[in-house]
Amino acid sequence: MSDTQTPSGGPPDSFGLSPAQERDAKIDIENLAYRYQPRRRAEVAALEGVDLVVRRGEFISVVGPSGCGKSTLLRVIAGLQKPTTGQIRLLHEDRERPLVAPVFQEYSIFPWRTVEDNVRLGLDAAGVNRNEANSRVQKWVDRVGLAGFEKAYPGNLSGGMKQRVALARAFVVEPEILLMDEPFAALDAQLRKVLQEELLSIVREHQYTVFFVTHNLDEALLLSDRIALMSARPGRIRELIDVPFEHPRKPELRQDRQFVRMEEDLWSRLRGDVTVAAGGAQ
Ligand SMILES: Nc1ncnc2c1ncn2[C@@H]1O[C@H](COP(=O)(O)OP(=O)(O)OP(=O)(O)O)[C@@H](O)[C@H]1O
Ligand SMILES: [Mg+2]
Repeated sequence: MSDTQTPSGGPPDSFGLSPAQERDAKIDIENLAYRYQPRRRAEVAALEGVDLVVRRGEFISVVGPSGCGKSTLLRVIAGLQKPTTGQIRLLHEDRERPLVAPVFQEYSIFPWRTVEDNVRLGLDAAGVNRNEANSRVQKWVDRVGLAGFEKAYPGNLSGGMKQRVALARAFVVEPEILLMDEPFAALDAQLRKVLQEELLSIVREHQYTVFFVTHNLDEALLLSDRIALMSARPGRIRELIDVPFEHPRKPELRQDRQFVRMEEDLWSRLRGDVTVAAGGAQ
C-alpha cells in the first residue's frame, strides 16, 4: 500500500512535480517557512522558502552554518513542529512500518530503562507482539555491537554505547525514513568513524531514505548521495551537490583526491556564511 501524508496528518496537496519526480519523491518540501514566536521576544525566522525533494532510498545530508535552521527543518519533517507556511509531504509506502524515526545528538534514551527496554520502546508503542519484539530487539542490539549489555543501564555505558542504543531504537522499528540530527557529534573521532561505517552498511542493506544533519563535511561526503547546502538564517537550500563515489564506501575514501577536492570546495562555499553566523547573526 502506498500513500502520501503531511507530517501534521492533513491531506496531501498536489505539488507540480513531473511524473518521474513524483515516483521518486519520498520527501517533498515546497516553499516552506518556519518562524519561532517566543513569548516576549522578537520572532525568529528560522526557515524561509525551503524547496527540497528527497528521493526514495536516498541518503541526503544537510550542512550549513550554526543556527541556519537544520534542526528545525528536521523537526518539521518529523512532524514535531508544524510549518508556518508552505507544504511538506512524505510518501508512506508500507503501513506496516512507521514512516519516520528520529535520532538526535543527545542520546535521548531513558536512564531508568535497561538497554533492551530502551530499544524496545517503539515496538511496544506500535503493539508488536512479544516474541517478534524480542527477536527484533536482540537482532538490533547485536547489530549495533551491544550484545552482552542488554540488561545494562545507560548510566553504566559510555557515550558511544548510549548512541548505539539510540541507533538501535530507531532501526528496530524499521522506519521508511531515518531522520538524524548530528547523531555522532558528541562522539570522539574514532568512534564516529566506526559508527559511520556501521550506519552506511545498515542503510545500504535496508535501503532507508535518510535525512542527515551534520556539521562535518567529511562525514557528509562519506555517507551521502547528495548534500544540501543551507544558507545562513533564515535558512533555505542554497545548493544541491551530487556525491559521485561508488558503494561500498570505505573510510580510506577520505584520502581520495576527488574526495579531498570536494571537501575543500564545500568548505569554500560555506565559509562566508559560517563566518557571518559566528559573527552574531543568531
Ligand atoms: N524554541 C525556539 N525559540 C526561538 N528561537 C529558536 C528556537 N529554536 C531554535 N531557534 C532559533 O532558530 C534558528 C534555527 O535553529 P536550529 O536549531 O534549527 O538551527 P541549526 O541549524 O540546527 O543550528 P546548529 O547547527 O547550531 O544545531 C536559530 O537562530 C535558533 O536560535
Ligand atoms: Mg541543530
